[in-house]
Amino acid sequence: MKIIAAMSETRVIGHSDGMPWDVPEEFEHYVEFVRGATVLMGRPTYEIFGFDTPAAHFVVLSRSPQPAPGAVICQNLPEALDAAKAFGKPIYSCGGAQVYEQTIPLATEMLLSTIKGDYEGDTHFPEFDAFEWQVAEERNEERYLFRRWVRR
Ligand SMILES: NC(=O)c1ccc[n+]([C@@H]2O[C@H](COP(=O)([O-])OP(=O)(O)OC[C@H]3O[C@@H](n4cnc5c(N)ncnc54)[C@H](OP(=O)(O)O)[C@@H]3O)[C@@H](O)[C@H]2O)c1
Repeated sequence: MKIIAAMSETRVIGHSDGMPWDVPEEFEHYVEFVRGATVLMGRPTYEIFGFDTPAAHFVVLSRSPQPAPGAVICQNLPEALDAAKAFGKPIYSCGGAQVYEQTIPLATEMLLSTIKGDYEGDTHFPEFDAFEWQVAEERNEERYLFRRWVRR
């Protein structure tokens, strides 16, 4: 499983019901990674980004059994992982913060963009132990810095 996220320089990933920046070229980069893949998301993230995400399969974590159109709803993480694996496609954990927290320990790779600038938000990317990870690729774009981290 790969983690994919965009965060500010202070690790902000979200503010109320969205992201507090508008950097379409970074969003496009997210779209290209997840196109045709299986994505795992928390229920609020699916409500915010599901429509704009061209994944082949959506596995959505929610403790409430409410149906979500176009998604497999799972009420716990093991069930979600089984459902995601069954599709036989690359799996991306697309957040938000609660889902990143639970899936970083399971991931082999993290595709993290840092948006340049200062943004306020109410949701943050979890701290991770940088000694467990190394940067395998880095690209400095005009408005964001992309790093691909692989587990050591
Ligand atoms: N910048 C980025 O790359 C990025 C990416 C994704 C999201 N975001 C932002 O992140 C924010 C949302 O993050 P969040 O942490 O509030 O929510 P989240 O991680 O998207 O989802 C949390 C919800 O998922 C369900 N859930 C989580 N763990 C579960 C488990 N083990 N078993 C069953 N259900 C589980 C619960 O849904 P129920 O409440 O339905 O039970 C929980 O309330 C938004 O602001 C969004 O814009 C940013």
